[in-house]
Amino acid sequence: MFNRRSALLGLGSTLVAGCAARRGSPEPTPPSVASTPSLARLAADKGIKFGSTVGAGPANSGSFRNPDYVRLLKADCAIIVPENEMKWQAIRPSAETFDFGRFDEMLSFAGANGLETRGHTLLWHRPEWMPAWLEAYDFGTRPATAAADILTRHVNTVAERYRGRMSSFDVVNEAVLHDSSLATTALSRAFGDTLGLLDLAFHSARKALPDAELVYNDYMSWEPGNEGHRAGVLRLLEGFKARGVPVDTLGIQSHIRIDSLDGQTGVPARNEREWRQFLDAVTAMGYGIAITEFDVNDQVAPAGITARDQMVADFAKAYLDIMFAYPQLKTALLWGMQDQHSWLQSFKP
Ligand code: XIL
Repeated sequence: MFNRRSALLGLGSTLVAGCAARRGSPEPTPPSVASTPSLARLAADKGIKFGSTVGAGPANSGSFRNPDYVRLLKADCAIIVPENEMKWQAIRPSAETFDFGRFDEMLSFAGANGLETRGHTLLWHRPEWMPAWLEAYDFGTRPATAAADILTRHVNTVAERYRGRMSSFDVVNEAVLHDSSLATTALSRAFGDTLGLLDLAFHSARKALPDAELVYNDYMSWEPGNEGHRAGVLRLLEGFKARGVPVDTLGIQSHIRIDSLDGQTGVPARNEREWRQFLDAVTAMGYGIAITEFDVNDQVAPAGITARDQMVADFAKAYLDIMFAYPQLKTALLWGMQDQHSWLQSFKP
C-alpha cells in the first residue's frame, strides 16, 4: 500500500512532512523506512528543527499516552508542541487559578524522551478560544488596568514556570481576521486598544523570557481567498516594527487546503507568486519565519487513495519547496503525525 512517509522521503531535496496513516487503516511500515534517516535528522542537516503537535488525551488519541503515537514521535521528531494543553482553556480554570497538571506531564514526557517543547500559546486572540469566564468577566471600574493585570499575570506566571525549558513561544495567535481587520476579545475591549493589548503581550513576554524566540502565529495561507488575511498580517507586522514591539518570528501555521482544482491544469488552486511576495515582505522586515502547524486539508481531493495521496504529496511539495527556500526558516512542525488523530477529522471531516 502507498505509504506517505516513504513517498515523501523520496521527494529528495525537499523535506516533506508525512501525515502518516490513512483514516482508520493500520499503518504499514515498509522495511526501507527503518533504514532511512529520521525526518528530524534530514531537517537538522538543513538547519531546521522538525517535530509535531501532541495531545494529552486518552491512549487512543494523538497523545503522549498512546504508545503507537509515541513511536511515531520518537522515530521522526526533535521537538513537540502541545495541541491544547498550554492554552488558557486548559491552564486557567478561573481568574484566580492556574492548572499546569496536564502540560507538566507532557513536558516530563518530552524531557524523558529527549524531545524539545515549544510554547503554544500565551494569547489566542479569539473570543471563541478564550475561557468562558474571561469572556464574561467583570472588569470593574478600571477595566484597562484590570485587563492589563490579567494578561501580564498570565504571561509572567507561565514564563516563570517554564523559563529555560522552552526556547520559542507563540506569544499571540490569530489576531487577524480573514478580512484583514483585528479580532477583538473581552480582554481587548476592556483594555480599550486591541493593538495595545497585543503589544503588551509581547513586551511582557520579552521581559519575562529575555532569551526566547517570540512568535506571532497565524493561518494566512497561499490559497486564493487569503489576500485580506495576508494584508492584515503584513500590516500588523509593520506596526510591530514601527512601534519597536519585540516580535522575532512569524509563525506560519500552514494548514494548507485543497479547496478547488484549477479548471485547466487540474492541480489544487494556490497563488505561488503572491505567497512568495508575502514571504519576501515578511523576511525583508527582518522577521524569521517558522512552519508551526503544517497539515493538508484534502476534503475536495479525489476519493481514490492513491490519486488523493499523490495530489496531497504534490501540493505539499510545491508548498514546502517555497518555504524551505528561505534561510530564515528554522522550524517545521506538523499539526499531528497521523490522519486518524488529526483535528481535521472533526474540524473539516
Ligand atoms: C486546535 C486543536 O487541534 C483542537 O484540538 C482544538 O479543539 C482547537 O484547536 N490553529 C491553532 C491551533 O493555532 O491551536 C489549533 O488547534 C488549530 C488551528
